Amino acid sequence: MKKSIAIYPGSFDPLTNGHLDLIERGSKIFDELIVAILRNPEKDPLFTLEERIQILEAEIARWPNVRAEVFDGLLVDYARRHDAGAVLRGIRAISDYEYELQMALMNRKLDPRLETVFMMPAEAYSYVSSRLVKEVARLGGSVRGLVPAIVEQRLESKINGGKSAAAKRKSK
Ligand code: PNS
Repeated sequence: MKKSIAIYPGSFDPLTNGHLDLIERGSKIFDELIVAILRNPEKDPLFTLEERIQILEAEIARWPNVRAEVFDGLLVDYARRHDAGAVLRGIRAISDYEYELQMALMNRKLDPRLETVFMMPAEAYSYVSSRLVKEVARLGGSVRGLVPAIVEQRLESKINGGKSAAAKRKSK
């Protein structure tokens, strides 16, 4: 039987526990899952592409059928090169739906054979986004439990110059 291969694309700036929850779910329903980080020269990410791939590789090592890669260009072309039949995306709330539907339908127009599969992360992560994690960390709040420990540490050194969020709050 043909192997089911799926791509989970995103910016992952940074990787959150919501992303990891989705990767775990995806790893159970696809034979192979490729987590693909978009190389986007137009965006100004907090984490470099090298950092993001390094973090992802460390975190996905526990799932033997998951690997991380960087991609550019059209997602449908990348999926075709990898013989992938599905794109995996997470939907947390209704507010995600419009953006996700637009992307899914555009990808379907570009390649009708590629299916988009939506999965819901655990409720505990339904409000977690990379954007909010960065905002909270920048303003000295704690993101413990929302991102992997390695991301928490790197956020602290990038944003707070090595001081922990708690220490920063105390010194205010
Ligand atoms: O994590 P993000 O930033 O919401 O991920 C967006 C991503 C990477 C999935 C999307 O921007 C993408 O697929 N870009 C590749 C370019 C492409 O194929 N665009 C046309 C289809 S929408």
